[in-house]
Formats: sequence, structure tokens, C-alpha cells
Amino acid sequence: METSKLRNKFIFFIVFAGIITLLLILFHFVEAPIKDYLTDFFGATDRRMGDTATVLFEHLFRILKIVLWMSLIVSIVRFVNHLVFSTALQRSNSYEISSLLRNVFSIIIYIVSFFVIFNSQYPNVDLAALFTTSTILGVIIGLALQDTLGNLFSGLAIQADQPFQIGDVISIPTKGEGVVEQVSWRGVQIRTFQNRLIVISNSVLGKEVVEVAPRDNLNARLVFFNTLYANSPTRTIQAVREVVRQIENVSQKIRPAVRVINLGDSGIEYEVKYWLEDYSKYNETDALIRQRIWYAFQRERIEFAYPTRTLHIETKPQENVFVETSSEIYERLSNVPIFAPLSDEETRKLADGSNLRVFAPGEAIVRQGQKGDSMFVVHRGAVDVQIKEAEATKNLRKLREGDFFGEMGLLTGEPRTATVLTDGETEILEINSLCLKPILEENPELVESLSRIVEERRQSFDKPEDKTMPTEIKDKASIFNSIKKFFGLAD
Ligand code: CMP
Repeated sequence: METSKLRNKFIFFIVFAGIITLLLILFHFVEAPIKDYLTDFFGATDRRMGDTATVLFEHLFRILKIVLWMSLIVSIVRFVNHLVFSTALQRSNSYEISSLLRNVFSIIIYIVSFFVIFNSQYPNVDLAALFTTSTILGVIIGLALQDTLGNLFSGLAIQADQPFQIGDVISIPTKGEGVVEQVSWRGVQIRTFQNRLIVISNSVLGKEVVEVAPRDNLNARLVFFNTLYANSPTRTIQAVREVVRQIENVSQKIRPAVRVINLGDSGIEYEVKYWLEDYSKYNETDALIRQRIWYAFQRERIEFAYPTRTLHIETKPQENVFVETSSEIYERLSNVPIFAPLSDEETRKLADGSNLRVFAPGEAIVRQGQKGDSMFVVHRGAVDVQIKEAEATKNLRKLREGDFFGEMGLLTGEPRTATVLTDGETEILEINSLCLKPILEENPELVESLSRIVEERRQSFDKPEDKTMPTEIKDKASIFNSIKKFFGLAD
């Protein structure tokens, strides 16, 4: 396609230049005979008329020659321009050479050629002096070219500065946004995302604040969305980040960031920050991201928030999304070894009295040294048990679904022996002393089995490197007494 275009241009140029050359050669030969003929023809009647006709003819001929020579020069310059700038250089360099530079080159060649040709026809006329000395001409040209020259010089400044290249996306307030297609001596041409062309003159552009998204740069975009308060931010962020990463044109070099930017009136507000391979396609990519978020939300049962005005007439505490049926909690508790001695009914009572809580990733559920009267069972997710030793933090164990912790605090009232942090979003069952006390009061023999289990666990923990238990309750008997004391149970 490109080669056939070039061939056509070449043929056109050869034919055009050939015709002009032929005309110039023809002029060379016919000039003298025509002049003689005119002198004879008009001179036959009046000699002065013959002279005038010859002079007029001479001027006409000279002007015609200037025009023909200039046409030849223009056609050569245009052809060379095309050959050098648009074809050869464009191939070697991925950027198209700005047409402004091409035009400046061409104009210089035209002016120089015009001077040379004019001088060859009128050697006695000093064209340069004519231009420089004629103030009136200068003023007229100056006024006429005021805007044009302004544009030209702003264009040259833009060229020197190179704040943007062809192919970059630029956005100019009040003018528009689009991909730079051409930088000419008059202005910059951009193609908007509606496929319209906008030409902004260089002088206007020089005064505006131009936002540039360079073509060979990773440019970021922000997409916003809201979810209901009932939906967990961790799950939402995970789901959105996963789908955004897979979208075409989203750069793999930098991970998209999804974050909570506000807790708004109608929901949790998020922003997705992602980087584009090709910024000029950001409209399509933004749209695809929104579409994929919708599908991800459908799968994950996350709901978009929209401005609503809700009248709540509540007769019971509002249901929490994380509250499971008590039978599921019962199921979980009956598989926890520490509660194995409890009867079905007691386990059910315990399930009814316990609370299911959700924690964010990295959140502390209990802190070492703090007092607490609850114990916990991991329902979904995992936690890390850590202790602080001389300013350093040491990871002791990871506890998973069905594991329990915090039993020392609950059963003895001692300060927490370790800090327990979530590893990812985690759901935890919390059982407090108020809930356990009536069960222990009804079954004093339970204290015995509980202290055995705590002691067994303590033994398993009690390695030289992780001695976290309080020194005064090192054996089963002391644990037993401590439990009884703490719950106020009779001997
Ligand atoms: P408590 O002391 O109430 O609070 C911190 C809890 O971390 C503690 O009860 C135990 O349940 C748990 N814990 C303490 N030390 C260890 C350990 N070495 N391994 C596993 N869990 C521990």
C-alpha cells in the first residue's frame, strides 16, 4: 500500500518536473524569435510601440520563468520531503517527524531559491534591500503575519521543548482531550475519543495547561465503585484486584491497587488504580473493568451501594451478614477438644451464648499482657500466635479452623500470655466467662476435665523456646484451683 503510493507520487513528480523542464527549454529557444517578431510587427508602424511591446514581453517572460522555476523547486522539495521525512526517517524512528520541522525546512529552501531565481532574472534589483528598507512593506507584512508568526514561534518553542510527541494523549481544559496526530507551524492536531479532529493553534496552546500522558510511559487511571456496608472490604478488594489484573491493556508490570477511599453515606467507597499499556484506550479499559467488577460481585455475592433512604423499623437487632445459624456454631464447638466433656445440651447453650466476629487481615484479637475473660475458636481463616521477647516479635504457632486460643485468660483470669493476630480475614467465635460460668456451676466435674485439657495443651506448648504460661499455674492442680477461684466455684 505504502510502496504503491510512493510509486504514484514518483510518477507524478517525474511527469510534472518533465513538463516544466520542457517548457523552460522551449522558452529558451522561442524567446529570441518571438522578441524579434514582436519588434518587427509593432515596430513596422511605430518604433516606440515596438520597443514597449518588447520590454513588456521580456518582463512577462521573466515572470513566467520565475513561476516555472519556482514550481520545479516546489515539486522537488515536496518529493524529497516525502521521501526523506515520511518514508525513510519514519521507518528508522518510530515517531513521525513533525510536519512543523518539514515546513520550516521547505520554507527556507523556497525563500533562498526565490532570491536566486529572481536575481538571475533581475540582476539589477536588490530584493533584500527592498524588503529591509521598505518600512511600509515591513509594517504591512508584520501586521498580516502577526498571528501566523506567533503560531510559528510558539510551534518552534513547542518543538524545542517537546512536551509531547505524536501518539501521546493530551488533555487541555476547555479545549478537549485526544491523541496528538500532527504538530504543524500553525497548531497541534488532536483526534478526540469521538474520532473528531481538533486543531489548537500553537499560540493558544502555549498559554494553556496541558496534561500529557506520554505514549511510552505507564499511565495510571482511577475507577470508582461503592459496596454495601455488609460486604467485607478484604473480600471485595481481593475479588476486584483479581479481575482487574486479567483485563487486556491493564499493565502486568505494576499490580492494580484497590483501596477504601471513604465510608460514605450509602456505602463503602473504593477506588481502583491501574496502569495501562496503551493509555489512548482508557475509555474501553475503564468500561471493561466496571463490567468485570459487576460479574465478580455476582459471583462473590457482593452488592453495589447506591444512594438510598431507608426507614428502619426494627423489632430485633439487625441481622449481621456473618451471623451463622446456631446449629453451624454448635457443629463447630462440638468438634473443639476443650469442649468434648460437655453434653449436647451444654454445647448448644454455649453455642447460643457465643458470638461470631469477623476480623480484618493482621488485626489483633488478643494482646499479650492484657486482661481478658473470653476464649476464641477459629471458625474461618487462620491466626498467628506471637510473643514479644526483648523488643523482638516471635511467631509461635499458626492456628486454623477448629483450633482454640485464649483459654488461659478465660479459665484463670490471668493476663494474656501471647498476642494473637489474624492471617487474612478471619471469623472467630468468642465465648466469654458469663456464658461459661453457669455451665461450670451446673457441672463442677467439668472443671477437672477442663484443667486436664489446658494442662495437656500447656505441655505441648511448653517447649524451652516458647514458655508463655504464667509461672504460678504450671501444673494441673494449680490450673484446677485457679479455674475454681476465677469462676467463684465452691470446693
Ligand atoms: P491466653 O493467654 O488467654 O491468650 C493468648 C493465647 O495464645 C493463650 O491463651 C493460648 O491460647 C495461646 N498461646 C499461648 N502460647 C502459645 C503457644 N506456645 N502455642 C500456641 N498457642 C499459644
